[in-house]
Amino acid sequence: EPVTLRNVYKDAFYIGAALNRFQIDETDSIMAGIVGREFSSITAENEMKSMQIHPTKDTFNYEYPDKFVALGEKHNMFIHGHTLVWHSQLSPWIRNIEDSTEMAEALKSHITAVVSRYKGKIHSWDVVNEALNEDGTLRKSVFLEVMGEDYLPLAFKWTSEIDPDADLYYNDYNMANPEKRAGAIRLVKNIMDKGVKVDGIGMQGHWHLNTPSLEEIEKSIVDYASLGVKVAITELDISVLPNPRDLVGADIGQNFDNSELLNPYTKGLPDSIQVKLANRYTDIFKIFLKHKDKISRVTFWGVNDGQSWLNGFPVRGRTNHPLLFDRELKPKSAYDSIIALK
Ligand code: XIL
Repeated sequence: EPVTLRNVYKDAFYIGAALNRFQIDETDSIMAGIVGREFSSITAENEMKSMQIHPTKDTFNYEYPDKFVALGEKHNMFIHGHTLVWHSQLSPWIRNIEDSTEMAEALKSHITAVVSRYKGKIHSWDVVNEALNEDGTLRKSVFLEVMGEDYLPLAFKWTSEIDPDADLYYNDYNMANPEKRAGAIRLVKNIMDKGVKVDGIGMQGHWHLNTPSLEEIEKSIVDYASLGVKVAITELDISVLPNPRDLVGADIGQNFDNSELLNPYTKGLPDSIQVKLANRYTDIFKIFLKHKDKISRVTFWGVNDGQSWLNGFPVRGRTNHPLLFDRELKPKSAYDSIIALK
């Protein structure tokens, strides 16, 4: 069997990638080759978000979601659905609802349409995405404002009624942060206490070279799993650039900022940082392997550096290098290190 991520991690957990619409299209055959060879799971980076898939009450864009599912089936992959209830990239027709009954009907009809279309084909769903503040309290989203906390158990209940076999996840970022972790545990317990099932917790994994700490990552995996749910790393990428919020006096506006400070690696990643990135991935994957009985899937948020959303977030116009394949689609030393662990 060829030595690929997908093959060497087969006995541990699925290895996934998020695909954008160009990658779903498979117009670039080199990309299609990498995706099919290296990954055993896929997530649509944007195409199944409500704004894309259900832009108005009576219209659906199923072209790319259908192609995405077909691609996963062609490569015999575990296909993950992202995401049913999220305040961001939310369809305006849902965002503008002010009445609680109307909001419940809208969410239920959205979930019913999308989940039933892919029943038996999409194997797990991010039912609710990013419902928490950093301090672990519930985010004041339009869902919370209009429906109160009930939207959480109801979203999971409706999804499980449509596809009882799909694994249902609560997904969020900064999930290794202790206060947010406590909040996520409360959130999931509250849903379970209502007799509604939650199958998994997704830690997005938009991490940095030094944060979060390995201890907090490991503690989070262990604590989440102790609820009796699966743990997935759902959106893994490791930024090699400074977080503008940490730079005193830096312009953290959304404007292009080509300063050395914010964007130091425009001409390529120096060897020293390449090594740091490989070591960081190694340390993190050692934890994942140690807890492979708890982890269902590790998905990278993209395939190659050139395509990563981190070139535009949290400031536009950056040159980031967070993934396993570089801008020429060549595997980086981080890729070799992860393979070598097995
Ligand atoms: C990002 C996509 O990668 C971008 O292309 C898009 O412009 C914005 O959304 N948390 C999530 C993902 O759950 O859906 C986000 O994806 C990244 C943060």
